[in-house]
Amino acid sequence: MTQTLLRGRVLTFHHRPRDASDTDAYTYLEDGALLLQEGQIVASGPYAEIRKTTSEAAEVDHRPHLLMAGFIDMHIHFPQTQVVASWGAQLLDWLNNYTFPAEADYVDAQHSRAMASRFCDLLTDHGTTTAVAFCSVHKASAEALFSESASRNMRMIAGKTMMDRNAAPAVHDTPQSSYDDSKALIAEWHDTKRLSYAITPRFAITSSLEQLEMARALVQDHPDCFVQTHLSENHAEIAETKRLYPQARDYLDIYESYGLLGPRTMLGHAIHLEDREIEALAATGSHPVFCPTSNLFLGSGLFDDGGLRARGIDSGIATDIGGGTSYSMLQTLNEGYKILQLQDQTLHALQAFDWITRANASVLGMDDRIGTLEAGTEADIVVLDAHATPAMALRMERAETLAEELFVLQMMGDDRAVVQTYVAGAPQKP
Ligand code: GUN
Ligand code: ZN
Repeated sequence: MTQTLLRGRVLTFHHRPRDASDTDAYTYLEDGALLLQEGQIVASGPYAEIRKTTSEAAEVDHRPHLLMAGFIDMHIHFPQTQVVASWGAQLLDWLNNYTFPAEADYVDAQHSRAMASRFCDLLTDHGTTTAVAFCSVHKASAEALFSESASRNMRMIAGKTMMDRNAAPAVHDTPQSSYDDSKALIAEWHDTKRLSYAITPRFAITSSLEQLEMARALVQDHPDCFVQTHLSENHAEIAETKRLYPQARDYLDIYESYGLLGPRTMLGHAIHLEDREIEALAATGSHPVFCPTSNLFLGSGLFDDGGLRARGIDSGIATDIGGGTSYSMLQTLNEGYKILQLQDQTLHALQAFDWITRANASVLGMDDRIGTLEAGTEADIVVLDAHATPAMALRMERAETLAEELFVLQMMGDDRAVVQTYVAGAPQKP
């Protein structure tokens, strides 16, 4: 049995740190080791102890770098890799002018396959080992992303977008085709290898009532699938949604009345919420997803992380490429920190790194498999260097604690700080 021993400074989280003094929340080993076998972490602990348990393991010495669980991106659009940095629009114009035309190209299976390979490369280059992804409306786009992820043994949660109105005809399906294509994709990919299916009505504006009925049927037929959509991102979007659904109590009520809420439901953005919506999120155990770089880029608004936490709601955090501007979960934390600063809230570096690893995994109900470096979990690992750029190295000359080092990574880090990414134990960077 081939074994690999990774040596380095090991950091893994057990629960969300209350503050910097909450040392029970994590384990940090200055000279630690992870023993990998068949895509799993089979042992984790001090190097001297783990080394004694194995004679044949090939050793990779990553000192002085940090070993952490691979990052989890909770909301990203696979067919928007060429939409990133499209100028000058807020949500609805941005969708019509840039996004729908780019997504139309994914009708072509060859284009979808080529882009799926580039997309997965970009994720792992930035230290992301699991993503929750929207594909385009076309079945071919989901086929391509699942197939590429399977070939890399990468954990991927994805779904074909359901959208049958109020977009361009090239990106419309029908209620029946959205049901049939989702069904076929679930049968082929869900729960195979490291793949999960997410039933994906894009948002209320682009689905007819008949299509939301189909989404309800899919959720009833497949309660173990995830659900992903968008919620209350932008004022014009909310006004248009209320115009289209005059009978709804509020935006969330639309999804609620079609049975789409629950602990496996991820709602991108969730910025401008009414009190009843917050109560319903808490009551159903549904999860908002904070998308900081996107919310700033599209001028959408400020996510109230502290307010939602106080109501017992667990949110994910994500890039939202291509409304988001960086694939890096480090840059996502950077902008997230600033959004919370504007609301007199804080995001401590220990909480930040817990969020993009263990806490995102917990939102998915997958923290027994990903998001930590515990023995028995999957060997998705990122190797980080807080000295990656001259500016970071200079700043690090005055960093004395682990928390300071993490904060440098959080504010200044990007793909250059990612020395290596392991997916199911296999190194992805040359
Ligand atoms: N709402 C509906 N579709 C989208 C999308 O592709 N990106 C963002 N940011 N919001 C959306
Ligand atoms: Zn989105």
